[in-house]
Amino acid sequence: EKGTYPHYMLKEIDEQPLVLRKITQRYQNEANELHIDDHILAAMNEADRIYIVACGTSYHAGLVGKQFIEKWAKIPVEVHVASEFSYNMPILSEKPLFIFISQSGETADSRAVLVQVKELGYKALTITNVPGSTLSREADYTLLLHAGPEIAVASTKAYTAQLAVLSILAAVTATSKGINLEFDLVQELAIVANAMEVLCDDKETMEDIAREYLATTRNCFFIGRSVDFYVGLEGALKLKEISYIQAEGFAGGELKHGTIALIENNTPVIALATQEHVNLSIRGNVKEVAARGANPCIISMKGLETEEDRYVLPEVNEALAPLVAVIPLQLISYYAALHRDCDVDKPRNLAKSVTVE
Ligand code: M6R
Repeated sequence: EKGTYPHYMLKEIDEQPLVLRKITQRYQNEANELHIDDHILAAMNEADRIYIVACGTSYHAGLVGKQFIEKWAKIPVEVHVASEFSYNMPILSEKPLFIFISQSGETADSRAVLVQVKELGYKALTITNVPGSTLSREADYTLLLHAGPEIAVASTKAYTAQLAVLSILAAVTATSKGINLEFDLVQELAIVANAMEVLCDDKETMEDIAREYLATTRNCFFIGRSVDFYVGLEGALKLKEISYIQAEGFAGGELKHGTIALIENNTPVIALATQEHVNLSIRGNVKEVAARGANPCIISMKGLETEEDRYVLPEVNEALAPLVAVIPLQLISYYAALHRDCDVDKPRNLAKSVTVE
């Protein structure tokens, strides 16, 4: 099934442009407009607050999804790690809507919250890759990712599919409220798919970066501000789960509050710079770590680049940059794991779907 690919993970990374195009098609109506089931739209419009609940990579997708929904549809959103939700249950709003994000639709931690929420009589929407999965069956509504089976334990195409579906949900909700987004999401997603293709065709550079920065290191930091911070969290999770390099993602501004103490000579720091409003500040953080000996690897977006950058991503709509910025991080993790002879598709101690709490 993996054809000529040495690993499912690499195949699934490469599938991302295609999956994105498929999602865009699946969520278009006959008039080629983006479209979401009326019941789901009604639930979005009735909600005074949305609670996103998820684990791992799906939680990271939720953090980015919050930005789409708040900025475009103007509905307040909270994002929660499922395993913490029941004991740290927030004071709920009057009309909450719960969104569960789960590639497998079988994650026990998320299901426990869904059961609790249904007992309280609230509505729930599941965003999943698996039709008929437990979380899909037990929620009121489902949105499918249409990413095709994801076999590698490390989630890649499901993450970008989750972001795409969340962006569509946010944009369609905004339009239904009469909010003018000033861009055409179908067109913007098409640009993203092309950018993804460019990145997937540039594997040699990603392999070089992995060799340059990660060949012998014990640890690695990812920094970013705004949504780049969330993509950094995902990059760190990817790297640690398959290469066993200790990796952490930080908000650029938080570094000086403690983490900078860990920077030593040659510590790799992967910095993301895709957001114009924080471009100068993240570059300030890069200078701080470089002054302490770190080996910074700046990944920026076209239009924001400077000469010191190691890699420049093709330009896409800034809000959608996470869909593009994550791809080099996935590929760098893949090659770092490969160089270390790790079992890329089946990392130690992990299962594809975590069905115990
Ligand atoms: O199937 P789910 O999306 O609910 O799974 C959640 C996490 O277990 C999952 O994303 C995990 O973090 C991945 N192995 C990350 O690559």
